[in-house]
Amino acid sequence: MPPVQIGPYVLPSSVVLAPMAGVTDRPFRILCRKLGAGLAASEMLTSDIRLWNTPKSRLRMSHEGEPEPRVVQLAGADPVALAEAARLNVDQGAQIIDVNMGCPAKKVCGKLCGSALLKDESLVARILETVVNAVSVPVTLKIRTGWDHANRNGVRIARIAESCGIQALAVHGRTRADFYDGAAEYETLRDIKSAIQIPVFANGDINAPQKAREVLDFTGADGVMIGRASHGAPWIFRSVNSFWSGEKSQLTLSRAEVRDIILAHLDSLYVFYGEGTGVRIARKHLGWYCEQCLPDSVQVRRDLMEAASTAAQFALAGKHFDEWAGAAAEAA
Ligand SMILES: Cc1cc2nc3c(=O)[nH]c(=O)nc-3n(C[C@H](O)[C@H](O)[C@H](O)COP(=O)(O)O)c2cc1C
Repeated sequence: MPPVQIGPYVLPSSVVLAPMAGVTDRPFRILCRKLGAGLAASEMLTSDIRLWNTPKSRLRMSHEGEPEPRVVQLAGADPVALAEAARLNVDQGAQIIDVNMGCPAKKVCGKLCGSALLKDESLVARILETVVNAVSVPVTLKIRTGWDHANRNGVRIARIAESCGIQALAVHGRTRADFYDGAAEYETLRDIKSAIQIPVFANGDINAPQKAREVLDFTGADGVMIGRASHGAPWIFRSVNSFWSGEKSQLTLSRAEVRDIILAHLDSLYVFYGEGTGVRIARKHLGWYCEQCLPDSVQVRRDLMEAASTAAQFALAGKHFDEWAGAAAEAA
């Protein structure tokens, strides 16, 4: 499979992390890149620069220590504001700007942005043209297949994107009206791929290496984008890469490796967010790690959720995941 190239950047892998608000913070992006994701976009940042002076936005704009290329995703509906936001982010180190036309969240769509923009094709063109012309770095786009089942205009949007100079497109195989319901469909993704020349990433419900292969084969896409299946399992990128390359030894990790990844992830969250927020954000990831590794251990999960400081949380996670890893070693 040929590597995906976006502007000057040849991606080390064609399986990439999906942007997810509240999840793909800098620690998670760095972790997923280390574990084989070819690209990891930031959580979406509003194009309204008046809202940037909050601790949350400032953290979202931090890229220290991130491997190249650093991707910032922008959400908004005003071409000029998006262009200005893109320029400012490039000044601060963004190497690719991704425009969000895929998010169905009310907060975003209420202001007519995210996937709500798909309804207005001429506005889509104006936005993309203005942003592409404003920055010297590649601009990419993330969309859904359309507004609703009666208006699956993904192919037209993809053609508009390509003609405006967008350099890669990620498509989630649901319409805006689907929200996250039902199963993703890949027929529209296949139609989009055959309609344009720029790299296409297939996204939606890809949760295992075999599924990634099937979606690639069916759609002809250049790569896949994985979101929710990385929750509590950032090693999925390594597994997909191994499966694709036929390197079976890297397909699954030992429990000791998983424990080490979890503890290092916690540590990076504490350093990034500090004591109070660090504990809170880590709880979300620990919940997901428990679902993946210890689905039946209600008490372990409760202990971890109740820990009130980073020190207590880290010590408990160390103890429980050590026992879990040790149990496997003894059984072997
Ligand atoms: C918690 C969460 C937050 C998300 N935030 C964003 C976002 O900020 N920008 C975006 O383009 N998509 C966002 N999405 C959509 C994902 O990028 C992705 O398209 C979707 O989850 C489908 O892929 P999956 O089935 O692999 O999860 C989000 C999804 C989730 C679950």
